[in-house]
Amino acid sequence: MKVAVVGSGGREHALAACLARTADVVVTPGNPGIPWSTSRPVEELDVDLVVVGPETPLVDGLADRLRAQGRSVFGPGADGAQLEGSKAWMKDVLVAAGVPTAGHGTFDDVAAAEAFLDTMGDLFVIKTDGLAAGKGVLVTSSRAEASAAVREYLSGERFGDAGRRLVIEEGLTGPEVSLLVICDGHRLVPLAPAQDYKRVGTGDTGPNTGGMGAYSPVPGVTSAMVEQILDTAVGPTLRELQRRGIDYRGVLYTGIMLTPAGPKVIEYNVRFGDPETQVLLPRFAGDLAALLQQAANGAMVDDATFNDDAAVTVVCASEGYPGALRTGDPILGLDAARAVPGVQVFAAGVGAGPDGRLVTAGGRVLNVTAVAPTIAQASAAAYTAVGMITWPGMHARADIARFGASNTEETR
Ligand code: AMP
Ligand code: GLY
Repeated sequence: MKVAVVGSGGREHALAACLARTADVVVTPGNPGIPWSTSRPVEELDVDLVVVGPETPLVDGLADRLRAQGRSVFGPGADGAQLEGSKAWMKDVLVAAGVPTAGHGTFDDVAAAEAFLDTMGDLFVIKTDGLAAGKGVLVTSSRAEASAAVREYLSGERFGDAGRRLVIEEGLTGPEVSLLVICDGHRLVPLAPAQDYKRVGTGDTGPNTGGMGAYSPVPGVTSAMVEQILDTAVGPTLRELQRRGIDYRGVLYTGIMLTPAGPKVIEYNVRFGDPETQVLLPRFAGDLAALLQQAANGAMVDDATFNDDAAVTVVCASEGYPGALRTGDPILGLDAARAVPGVQVFAAGVGAGPDGRLVTAGGRVLNVTAVAPTIAQASAAAYTAVGMITWPGMHARADIARFGASNTEETR
């Protein structure tokens, strides 16, 4: 089977590496650190299956356009992709489906948003309605900060059109878990649970990012809890999509908070998580190309099985991320890092320098992933490898899957 992966980051590198076990793979456009990259556009590639990585092309209808050409595509159409493209629409679906989620209001004017803030408790959650690369969510206990965000979002100053409508949510508390579920329009096949780290700084400090690290499996998230999440959240969501005439073939990435009142949905993404994919797929034991092709064709028969190893990924980011970035620096130590037993390094925001060496070219630059029998061993191996990588201003969280340890940030 020939498979094309659309995208250019660490998630696509991890997808390609797993698909390549059983299929011929190309990644378009990929990046200079992904060996299967091609500059040919997906429309020109002669493949049996297209797997769309990022949310933006899905929201823009890439899967619909390819299906209209008769292609087999893993990824929802623009209709289903609204689950991620509009938080207001997503909340509407959840409410209609009776799925447990944070109470909310949707606003496009300051006065109504302020009046809603007045009714809230002591944790304010402000989200852009539209896509903001994982950075459009503010969680704060400061009423002044919440008010300032409402003005900056609605004026378009902070996130352009994505913020001109916003969702304000009740603040929930509890551990979070990411459950990625493969869907063929009817049937749901869960992947193993994973844990993501959203804040930029060690100890959950600083602003939200796209994700600074992840691990899988997640101790304490049992198969009974996964069943509960499927029964109370993902299943009802899929049925509500079907009721709206939406044939959802792709991943339903379910962001769950395990609150004292039970699991509640924090978000849906319509694609594989980044960096969750970088810990899930190295543990995946089956034929990913076959599973995704079955889902794309609306007839999934396989299940997803995972080996017993643990995987940990640590994101190495550019100076300034998630704000204004410094880029263009040569990445040093990559070969040494890759030589650490159990370690793979996925190339995310990388480019080619004048001498052909890899240079930094984005916010999240590398995903250093280690697989080992235990989470502690995987984390130790990942950090050994991270310690070998350097460029000016590189930073990584120091606490990914290091439980209870007090750590200082990795900066160079
Ligand atoms: P989202 O992009 O919607 O997943 O939000 C990013 C992060 O903000 C989540 O992973 C949570 O850590 C946090 N968050 C989002 N919604 C809430 C909420 N209602 N209560 C508390 N924290 C939240
Ligand atoms: N890691 C969070 C996301 O993929 O949105």
